[in-house]
Amino acid sequence: MERHLITGATGLVGGMLTLDLLEHYPDAELVCLVRPRGARPAQERLDAALRDAATAYRREAALKRAGQRCRAVSGDLTLPLCGTSGAQVGPVSHVWHSAASLAFEDEAKDAIMQCNVEGTRHVAALAQRLGVGVFNHISTAFVVGDRAGDIPAAPVDPQVRSNNWYERSKVLGERIVSSSGFPTLRILRPSGVIGHDTTFGATTFSGLYGMVKTLLALRLRNRQDFAGQHLRIRADADALVNFVPVNLVTRGAVTLSAADAPSGVYHLSNISQATVADTLSAITERVGMPEPVLVATTDGFTPAEQRLDRAFTFYRPYLSATRHFGLAETLQHTATSMDAPLSRERLVDFVDWYLGTLKRRPSVGGTTG
Ligand SMILES: NC(=O)c1ccc[n+]([C@@H]2O[C@H](COP(=O)([O-])OP(=O)(O)OC[C@H]3O[C@@H](n4cnc5c(N)ncnc54)[C@H](OP(=O)(O)O)[C@@H]3O)[C@@H](O)[C@H]2O)c1
Repeated sequence: MERHLITGATGLVGGMLTLDLLEHYPDAELVCLVRPRGARPAQERLDAALRDAATAYRREAALKRAGQRCRAVSGDLTLPLCGTSGAQVGPVSHVWHSAASLAFEDEAKDAIMQCNVEGTRHVAALAQRLGVGVFNHISTAFVVGDRAGDIPAAPVDPQVRSNNWYERSKVLGERIVSSSGFPTLRILRPSGVIGHDTTFGATTFSGLYGMVKTLLALRLRNRQDFAGQHLRIRADADALVNFVPVNLVTRGAVTLSAADAPSGVYHLSNISQATVADTLSAITERVGMPEPVLVATTDGFTPAEQRLDRAFTFYRPYLSATRHFGLAETLQHTATSMDAPLSRERLVDFVDWYLGTLKRRPSVGGTTG
């Protein structure tokens, strides 16, 4: 029986990926490396995460297949060989390395590097021990750092100026897997991942949702300062920002694999980009703030606007420049269209789904990014 090893199956991308792999590889066993948390063993966490994913994406039918062909192995990226003996996993044909820390704060630097750089080294070493033929490494389109304009799907320049430790760690992760000698290595680079393109559901919340969370928290904490004011935010209204629904990412990844796409770098981004103006307008409307005014400098900012400016430090590079991620290599090997137009109204749907989740289960709002 063919066997795939998946890391990060309890996450946004990994959960959807696991459901897609069950469908596209009907004879394969899927082994998911999951860290136990407190008293919750790995298998219980995996089952719960796949149930959440199936509900969010209305893919409940896939759960039956998961029960039959999907098992958890307890492990942690930060440990040598991820804390597993290869024997617990068994021989593996394909690895899908999706696990990562999506933290970005300077204070989290050590944890980010430990997970995304050393963790990737440990997964690569485990894969080598298991004799893996195909290694699929989930990276990010934003390894290009401060570069803007046309971005080819090509190995990253190690001298690139990264915007934060998360980006840097993903650059280094790519270099590790590139020098590990796998017969086939695909570096898969999603852009900013959002929920499912028809259900709008998601299971963890970074990127777009991080901005919603930040603006909502600021509004709730500063009711007085923000009442009725058109706040200024440093951003380029006309710039384009690349958000891609999670099901496009995973369908793209799995169909590249099914097509035996050769070693290479593949963007998993959206052909249609949203404008920064629409994105911030949709978010502010739904969190109950007046439409913001997008400006180039902080000149004359009020204390409230300065607070917001500081809170947006992480997001600013993504709101100030347009990047066109080259998709030719991806589209050559997959029938997935990689196109999900994101109008302002459509963005509102994604934001509303997230805000609804906060009302139903306030604890899920507390993830990174
Ligand atoms: N989300 C985005 O916008 C985006 C954009 C571009 C690229 N990516 C890339 O896509 C991949 C998946 O991201 P995501 O959005 O799915 O992230 P996510 O929802 O935060 O999931 C992260 C996954 O990594 C696991 N993980 C973290 N640290 C671990 C450790 N020490 N040992 C074992 N597992 C660990 C988490 O397990 P626990 O459940 O135990 O925490 C979780 O399953 C990442 O490589 C990320 O860099 C994401």
